Amino acid sequence: METGVTDQGFPAERIDTSRPHPARMYDYYLGGWDNYEVDRAAAEEVMKLAPDTRATARANRAFMERAVRTAVGAGVRQIIDIGTGIPTSPNTHEIAREIAPGTRVAFVDNDVIVGAHAEAKLTNEGNAAFVHADVREPRSILDHPTVRRLIDFDQPVALMLVAVLHFIDDASDPEGILATLGGELPSGSHLILSHVTADFHGEERRRTEGEDVRKVYDRSTAHLTLRDHAGILPFFKGFDLLDPGLVQATAWRPEEGTGRAGKAAGNEDGRTVACYAGVGRKP
Ligand SMILES: C[S@@+](CC[C@H](N)C(=O)[O-])C[C@H]1O[C@@H](n2cnc3c(N)ncnc32)[C@H](O)[C@@H]1O
Repeated sequence: METGVTDQGFPAERIDTSRPHPARMYDYYLGGWDNYEVDRAAAEEVMKLAPDTRATARANRAFMERAVRTAVGAGVRQIIDIGTGIPTSPNTHEIAREIAPGTRVAFVDNDVIVGAHAEAKLTNEGNAAFVHADVREPRSILDHPTVRRLIDFDQPVALMLVAVLHFIDDASDPEGILATLGGELPSGSHLILSHVTADFHGEERRRTEGEDVRKVYDRSTAHLTLRDHAGILPFFKGFDLLDPGLVQATAWRPEEGTGRAGKAAGNEDGRTVACYAGVGRKP
């Protein structure tokens, strides 16, 4: 397939508007327009239960920008962005190419609507492509012909799993998934990861909010698994965490710029950013 487009067609009838989709709910949190009534209703419900949701989504996006700049600034020129979401400006390839115009990006998501939007919006400037695959089947990503065409596994890769692993339950063995993906990458590769958590809330909110929000997501196409710091840290096995480690998304190198997607430092408008973020480097 050619660059900047999906590798398969996504006929409109394959787009499910009967259930909320996390990608479209997230688009709504970020103020996007690529969502349906069913997504907006679920997203509003989540935001009512967890008023920090929108601030968390923005802070996550701003972390993503800083982390991509860090990896590309360190010399990485190829990226696998899994759970990429509906394209939101600036996209991974736009951020990377501000530093290194030739950076190659494989966007991966299991939601056909992300593919449909990727096809419509990814600028056809070469070396970027969308792959429809599920992170729970990591080999299908690593062996995908489009990924193999774009990514040279002898050269460092930035593997991005930004705000996606909380949609992978323990039964799906997220650590094993990471081991498979990370095992394929050479020294100098980076792991860019963020994950929603209830750690930054008090006990009471942690219990009620977490459970109620989970119930909303249970009606969607993916379930939510909130993890604490100790539950997320093992995902970095085989990588050395860069400073400042696995921290609240706003605390990850705020000095590296605010990013266009949101504020980088501090909790936005008094909101608590409910997301851990970190970047690891494979020694
Ligand atoms: C909250 S969005 C994050 C988007 C983007 N990475 C960001 O942080 O701005 C989560 C994305 O993960 C995708 N996703 C959920 N489960 C997935 C799975 N099992 N395999 C691949 N992608 C998945 C959803 O479709 C959605 O696009």
